[in-house]
Amino acid sequence: MTCKIDYAAPADLLRDRIILVTGAGDGIGRAAALAFARHGATVILLGRTIAKLEKVYDEIEAAGGPQPAIYPLNFEGAALKDYHDMAETLDKEFGRLDGILHNAGLLGRITPFEQYNPELWEQVMQVNINGPIWMTQALLPLLQSSPDASVVFTSSSVGRKGRAFWGAYAVSKFATEGFAEVLADEIEHLGTLRVNTINPGATRTKMRANAYPGEDPETLRTPEEIMPTYLWLIGPESRGVNGERFDAQPPK
Ligand SMILES: NC(=O)c1ccc[n+]([C@@H]2O[C@H](COP(=O)([O-])OP(=O)(O)OC[C@H]3O[C@@H](n4cnc5c(N)ncnc54)[C@H](OP(=O)(O)O)[C@@H]3O)[C@@H](O)[C@H]2O)c1
Repeated sequence: MTCKIDYAAPADLLRDRIILVTGAGDGIGRAAALAFARHGATVILLGRTIAKLEKVYDEIEAAGGPQPAIYPLNFEGAALKDYHDMAETLDKEFGRLDGILHNAGLLGRITPFEQYNPELWEQVMQVNINGPIWMTQALLPLLQSSPDASVVFTSSSVGRKGRAFWGAYAVSKFATEGFAEVLADEIEHLGTLRVNTINPGATRTKMRANAYPGEDPETLRTPEEIMPTYLWLIGPESRGVNGERFDAQPPK
């Protein structure tokens, strides 16, 4: 698995690109939205907490980045129609999409499978995989309108090797890897679209703190520090790379 931690992105790497980031209000998604905008992208900020998205919007504007857009959406309640309405709105506004970073995620509970609550299981699968799949289907025509589009799905180490007690989260990440491979194989012939996965690795966010409450966050890389691989994957320099798995951090 490749890692591009030392990638130095040119300042205008994403100039004139329109990139959707899900879960853009916090953690890794927030850092990615800010980094993409700093490299010239028009970023569509998608998430469920509008106040957080507005903060990121303001930060991008204050930094002099291209004017972003906010798209409020909660994967838990969203239906197929919402994704098609979204595609219509983005089509009217932008006419194409040059990238999607599927980043929104829910941890659920780390607990023995015997005690896993089925409703929570469904919720995690909805947010981490089912919602993103149907959103991707609705947005495919917009991605195909781009001469060079990159779709990045967020995985996890527990989506590549199963681990006790990680339940729905791990299963959703295995499904993410599987879906990305299937789609990558299907669109390979297009030559203008690529689909890959990224495993951020242990990163200093609220989700990580919830999963490992006893850990000292200061020992972890920040979301900002893991951005080189994200920038490389979403930008034009990864053209032709399709169906591969990436790590945002080198192995320890
Ligand atoms: N941090 C790590 O160490 C680590 C390691 C491996 C993989 N990952 C993956 O990296 C991605 C980002 O994680 P993170 O650590 O940055 O987590 P985070 O700080 O908890 O951020 C998750 C983001 O997803 C959004 N989100 C959650 N449920 C949603 C829903 N129903 N609809 C729309 N948006 C929703 C959150 O919105 P709100 O802010 O409104 O809640 C938040 O913006 C996730 O896919 C995670 O599985 C993280």
